[in-house]
Amino acid sequence: MAVATDPIAFRIDRVDAAGCRLLATLHAACFSPGWDHQAFDRLLVMPGAISLLASQMASAGAPMGLILGRVAAAECEIITLAVLPDRRGQGVGRALLDEITALATADGAREMLLEVACDNGPAMALYRGAGFAQVGRRANYYRGAGKPPVDALIMRRPLAGSDPGNA
Ligand SMILES: CC(C)(COP(=O)(O)OP(=O)(O)OC[C@H]1O[C@@H](n2cnc3c(N)ncnc32)[C@H](O)[C@@H]1OP(=O)(O)O)[C@@H](O)C(=O)NCCC(=O)NCCS
Repeated sequence: MAVATDPIAFRIDRVDAAGCRLLATLHAACFSPGWDHQAFDRLLVMPGAISLLASQMASAGAPMGLILGRVAAAECEIITLAVLPDRRGQGVGRALLDEITALATADGAREMLLEVACDNGPAMALYRGAGFAQVGRRANYYRGAGKPPVDALIMRRPLAGSDPGNA
């Protein structure tokens, strides 16, 4: 999928295990600690894994962001989503979420689930705007060295074709 934005145009492509080092580099630039390439190697070969990379059309396809999810039966779990700090606020995160939604729906998913830190305002705004609602909370789920633990919110969104009674 190609997306034209002002001022940056980007494209979104599927990545397979050959891209795990690139995904790890991107992840490390967005999270501390990031996941290493062996972790991505394992994740990308899981049955139902969908991994997408957003890259700039100009600048020789410089990577901008990634999303990784997994479809199992009628459920798609978003495992990670990140956009490089200097590429945020330009629609890349939303476009990655939209694209994985389309692919997961085509693969039979009828709902999407994810976990997000309760203090992550930008991510929660993105998810709420995309139709996710909180369905649970895990206390003290995220623990970083030298930082107080942070709760995880579990968010869910029905996908096209799901029973409205379950929405
Ligand atoms: C969350 C993240 C992926 C959003 O990516 P992005 O490319 O900046 O998001 P977009 O530009 O597509 O914005 C989509 C929506 O997200 C929300 N959003 C994005 N940045 C925001 C900010 N700084 N403050 C509040 N809301 C914000 C808005 O609702 C926005 O919609 P709008 O433009 O109509 O207002 C990005 O901030 C990121 O990588 N953060 C660090 C990693 C992370 O927290 N990942 C999620 C883990 S669950």
